[in-house]
Parts: sequence; structure tokens; C-alpha cells
Amino acid sequence: VAMLTGPKPLAGKRVLVTAGGTVERIDPVRYITNDSSGKMGFAIAEAARDRGAQVTLVVGKADVEPPNGVDVVAVRSALEMREAVMERLPDVDVVVKAAAVADYRPARQATEKMKKSAEALTLELVPNPDILQEIGEWKAAREVGARQPFIIGFAAETTDVEKHALDKLKRKKCDLIVANDVTAEGAGFGIDTNVVSVYGPAGLVEKLPLLSKKDVAGRILDLIAVSTRPTGG
Ligand code: CTP
Ligand code: CA
Repeated sequence: VAMLTGPKPLAGKRVLVTAGGTVERIDPVRYITNDSSGKMGFAIAEAARDRGAQVTLVVGKADVEPPNGVDVVAVRSALEMREAVMERLPDVDVVVKAAAVADYRPARQATEKMKKSAEALTLELVPNPDILQEIGEWKAAREVGARQPFIIGFAAETTDVEKHALDKLKRKKCDLIVANDVTAEGAGFGIDTNVVSVYGPAGLVEKLPLLSKKDVAGRILDLIAVSTRPTGG
């Protein structure tokens, strides 16, 4: 029991967390982004640090300061986030993908500030790579015996939360997915609380009540600690 509930259950583990929103440039003074505050991902990084892990935090745009005691890697676009994550994968034991990655980016990035005209302007967007899915595919292609990261994704949903979360878990080959009903009272972007359910390949693992993001992070890290114990499943 001491090993299970000890104060530093993640000692010696390397945990990579992504947080915040990505920033997709249109021109030198304009960009597309989303409402992610970074708070959930930062709380995850803190909870991992407090459990003894060595934490790398890959962060896009955030409204608050990242926690102390973690290695911060600042990125902007989804393409930069992908590079920062993929190059570190061989060395990590756990990946938590809490970032809100923009699904699209402008097809072209103007090097000079765009000038207005009287015409309507159509901005062409192209899909960004799905970083979480690439992590899952990278893991699936790993040879047996090589270091295999435990992968946790997030799913921000407004309808059919369970169905969409389980779809994402399968498609992206995650070990756990944290589903966020962003329309629920006390959940969503910018605020300090969240309402989440955690799913694994066999379905619901834990449905959490309305909690502070700090407490949500603690529960998620406790699940990770149990799931990644040497003798654990
Ligand atoms: N994600 C990612 N790369 C992307 C888009 C999403 O790594 N280009 C990750 C997020 O960090 C999150 C998970 O995938 O952990 C789910 O993100 P979400 O936006 O809920 O799912 P999508 O697959 O983008 O589907 P949709 O937005 O259409 O619901
Ligand atoms: Ca998305």
C-alpha cells in the first residue's frame, strides 16, 4: 500500500505535458487561436511534479504563468508543438496532451502585413497534423521491449460526450482520454474548475464531480501513477 499511495509515486518518471492553445499566423500582426487558458495543462504539470516526476511542459499561448520546477518549452503553432513533442517522445514515460491544438492553419503566411481593400477576403485554411494521433501511431510502431509512453488525451465536447471520447481514444490509440463537457456548469475554458470523465479502452474509468482544475489534475495523475506502476496493468 505504501508503494501505491506513497508521496512520490512518479519518482524517476519523465512526463511530457502540452498545454495552452496554438497560434496560427496569418501575417506578422494577426493570427488564429482559441480560448484555451493553459490552466488545465499547467495543473497537470504541477500534479506530476508534486508526485516526483521530471516534467517537460510544451506550451503555446496561455493566460497564466507556467508552474515552477518544470522544464518549459515555449511554442506557437501546431507545427512547432508537433516538432517539440515528437523529438522528445523516445525519452518519456507519460504524455498528457492537454493543449488545445488548432485544427486548421492559414494555407499561406504573409511575410508583410496584409493591406485592406474594398473586396471581401477569403482566408484559406488547411488541416494541421493531429499530434495526439501521431503519438499513438509512433507508439504502435515501436518495437517490442522499447520504451512505450503511456498516452493521455483530452476531448473537448459539447454533445454525445462518451461516444466522441471513445471514438477519439480508439482513433488516436490513447491509453486514457479525459472528456470535458465544455457546456457543463463549472467546466470549460478560462475558469478554475472542471467537470470531466476519464475513459479507457474498456469504457468509463472514473466520472469526477465538479472539482478545481488542481483537484482534477491530482485525480488524473493518481490514475496515471496506478496505471504505470511496474507491476500494474
Ligand atoms: N489534438 C492534437 N492535435 C490536433 C488536434 C487535437 O494533438 N491537431 C489532441 C488534443 O490535444 C486533445 C485531443 O487531440 O488531447 C482531442 O482534441 P479535440 O479537439 O477534442 O479533438 P479533435 O480530434 O480535434 O476533434 P474535433 O475538434 O473535431 O472534436
Ligand atoms: Ca479539435
